[in-house]
Amino acid sequence: MGALSALRSWLGDVFAGRPGWMNAMMLFCAYMAFVYVPWDFFAKPAAHDAEVWFGIMLTGGWAKLTEPLHWLVYAAGAYGFRRMRGWMWPWASLYTVQIALGMWVWSGIYASSGAVSGWILGLIPGLLFLVPSVALWRARPLFQERPTLRQRYAGWALVTGASAGLGAEFARQLARDGVPCVLTARREDRLRDLAEELERDHGVETRVVAADLAQPDGADTVANAVADLDVAILVNNAGFGYQGRFDKQETARLRDMVTLNCATPVVLTSRLMGRMKERGSGAVVITGSVSGRQPLPLHAVYGATKAFDQLFGEALANELRADGIDVLVLEPGSTQSEFQHVSGALPHHGVPADPVVADALDALGWQASVISGWWNWIRANTAMRLLPRGVAAHLGRSIMASQTPEDMR
Ligand SMILES: NC(=O)c1ccc[n+]([C@@H]2O[C@H](COP(=O)([O-])OP(=O)(O)OC[C@H]3O[C@@H](n4cnc5c(N)ncnc54)[C@H](OP(=O)(O)O)[C@@H]3O)[C@@H](O)[C@H]2O)c1
Repeated sequence: MGALSALRSWLGDVFAGRPGWMNAMMLFCAYMAFVYVPWDFFAKPAAHDAEVWFGIMLTGGWAKLTEPLHWLVYAAGAYGFRRMRGWMWPWASLYTVQIALGMWVWSGIYASSGAVSGWILGLIPGLLFLVPSVALWRARPLFQERPTLRQRYAGWALVTGASAGLGAEFARQLARDGVPCVLTARREDRLRDLAEELERDHGVETRVVAADLAQPDGADTVANAVADLDVAILVNNAGFGYQGRFDKQETARLRDMVTLNCATPVVLTSRLMGRMKERGSGAVVITGSVSGRQPLPLHAVYGATKAFDQLFGEALANELRADGIDVLVLEPGSTQSEFQHVSGALPHHGVPADPVVADALDALGWQASVISGWWNWIRANTAMRLLPRGVAAHLGRSIMASQTPEDMR
């Protein structure tokens, strides 16, 4: 596939699911948010600045002051159209009504020309801007909430690493949406408690499969244990970290980590994907990490396993989209769970697991990977993308050093 057809197929994905006029509005919002308003704010001298709000023109410093608000409106518009957010309706429609009204008021106050009153002239742009308002109003069904996960995928979910942290939270949120869950990890007592909770609170069926997924046959054992079920959602979440200098780490534990974090998602996905292809729908989630975005001294192998997960998942998303299978890599930052304790890190801040999982389930079907948390997103998309990898490695090391016990540094 040439670069041009690759670009065309990517654009096809970006513009799918919206009428052409709405795509044009999305592009306009993106242009305003990422090109025009930043230029206006940073490059235009305040003396030449003018902003119109509800038809009233602000100039100079007052105009500058209100520009971030305009930026917010356009950024929200670009994002809201891109993800077809429920809150876009009725706000987008009302906002364009406000523009129509503003046009009329602006003409009335500032644009009288000779014999013709500005209030009359202003009716023309005012009425023109009512056209998108009406179109957005009529398009409201497109913005309504998406069907539940149960309605979208209609089958069982298999969640690995369900005995703690993010995995337990995945199971809870899937069950809340009515999805029956297979729970797997090593600690069977925990899985049974969670299964009881899900059945009691959400009335879903559950199955517990205790298995060690760091063993070479672990993934096959689990795949065999669900062979009679219609697994539509696979959450490859089990994983652990191992913090410290490579030459101080145990070989066996490193091998287990590579097997669990890399080989297990590959084998489970390979074993369960056939059924999803047959039914023409399915979902595969892989828990990666923002750690996989740069070389990470003092967590070197863990970071590399998460880079593997990310590249594997994003490539798979591209391969399987034509088969109706949604693939998503979740990239959490530091999250409250047993992860820090298990990896031997010094305790440090983490966000609760529920919003992280909510971000993943929300992004599923829309994009190939999602970074949870705006600060993580900014770091991953600025410093970690722009810095030379050598500098990123030094930066990563200094952060890891502050979280690594002295005897492992
Ligand atoms: N927490 C964070 O800060 C963070 C950040 C980025 C990415 N992540 C990723 O998020 C995923 C979930 O981690 P978490 O934060 O929820 O950690 P967690 O609380 O330690 O949970 C890890 C889960 O994996 C299971 N597991 C570990 N070894 C296993 C094995 N050999 N066989 C089967 N299951 C095994 C554990 O169950 P058993 O011990 O019962 O087997 C547990 O259910 C991991 O892939 C991790 O890399 C976490």
